[in-house]
Amino acid sequence: MGPGADAVWGAIGSETAPWSFAASSIVAPNIPSDHKRPLMTEKRVLLIIAGGIAAYKALELIRLLRRQGRGVTCVLTDNGGQFVTPLSLQALSESKVYSDLFSLTDESEMGHIQLSRAADLLVVAPATANILAKMAAGLADDLASTVLLATDKPVLVAPAMNVRMWLHPATQANMATLAQRGVHVVQPNEGPMACNEFGPGRLAEPPEILQAIEKILAPAPGLLTGRPLTGRHALVTSGPTHEPIDPVRYIANRSSGRQGHAIATALADLGARVTLVCGPVTVPDPPGVTVRHIESAQQMLDACRSALPADIAVFAAAVADWRVEQTSTGKIKKQPGAAPPSLTLVPNPDILATIAAAGPDRPRLVVGFAAETDDLMENAQAKLRRKNADWIVANDVSPETGIMGGAENAVHIVSAAGIETWPRLAKDDVARRLARRIAEVLT
Ligand code: CTP
Repeated sequence: MGPGADAVWGAIGSETAPWSFAASSIVAPNIPSDHKRPLMTEKRVLLIIAGGIAAYKALELIRLLRRQGRGVTCVLTDNGGQFVTPLSLQALSESKVYSDLFSLTDESEMGHIQLSRAADLLVVAPATANILAKMAAGLADDLASTVLLATDKPVLVAPAMNVRMWLHPATQANMATLAQRGVHVVQPNEGPMACNEFGPGRLAEPPEILQAIEKILAPAPGLLTGRPLTGRHALVTSGPTHEPIDPVRYIANRSSGRQGHAIATALADLGARVTLVCGPVTVPDPPGVTVRHIESAQQMLDACRSALPADIAVFAAAVADWRVEQTSTGKIKKQPGAAPPSLTLVPNPDILATIAAAGPDRPRLVVGFAAETDDLMENAQAKLRRKNADWIVANDVSPETGIMGGAENAVHIVSAAGIETWPRLAKDDVARRLARRIAEVLT
């Protein structure tokens, strides 16, 4: 039996944990480059890039904003210029980059007041402890801080700094001052940092910052309703499969189907049209979801194929890896004195690998699971490649983790771009968070 997700995830809980990302961002490599949102009214973002190792993420943020149809003008601080070049910012934003307060040309053609006038929103990403302190104190000693002091437009900051700097009472007091003045904040994430420490302080991922920007500018209808997956079709597999031996016997596994069903529910809650292909389970069909009940792996594959096309496919089922080569049409009877019958097993199709194989019907985002007891990351990365998945949701199910049969789970999202480690969460929250993460890369 393949472990899938349902074999090890089961209980239901309430959403309590905050967002936090622990490693590099993840992407959907199979989203075709021509898959762009329709252009919205060109609202302009003035993006201020302060000095910090996370400045490189500003490049991705600009790309996402441009794809969203937003105009972007960049202001680069002197320290920011140590991490990203004006040339790359200019190429991505397709606009002139500003950095010098005293440049006569800039002052005559585009003074600092004009810079903020021309923007609908000012975004500081990454926002260092220094620039936050300057903002809180009302200092204006360079172009970035001058623009921030002179503006009457909404301001969003995305802090990024060493964990101790972030937790320092001075920084926290500055944040409180800024929040009181109405400055919007995308909270930093928790995780390993470039400085070899661990904790809150990592710059939020570009899709998170984008979402916060969109909320302020003009939320898309999906974002307004909290249903960003409206118009998308999601295919989810869940539960075990039963592989018949004869009309009354079968090979099965202990999968409950709760995790896969929770994922189907979470995707539907975000507006997706969901087809759930599930093996025999006792959990009820999720409301608002089209459910195809099947028994064997072959039937699961057939049902998945006929559900295509789909934008998203999440394979949470614990599919039996083998089936009996020759199922008996009649009940196998004991023969007095004869040896027990032996069963010859043959491999089942790999449903995830089949659907994820390149082709016109391949869903844009394919997510598989890996529950492992040894070499978690190596195994998950190997599965990612072997099955051509975009993400693998990996978890350690060694008995000492207490995850097997427990109420909580601690997962890592493994993609070609890196590994994102989530905190230990209730299993329903893992489903909701996975659905939100999917929505972020598809919207
Ligand atoms: N999976 C599938 N079809 C199969 C076996 C697995 O779709 N026949 C999917 C599961 O739903 C899960 C992922 O593949 O998303 C990983 O399943 P797993 O059983 O861990 O992978 P295996 O290839 O069986 O690896 P191993 O048994 O060596 O751990």
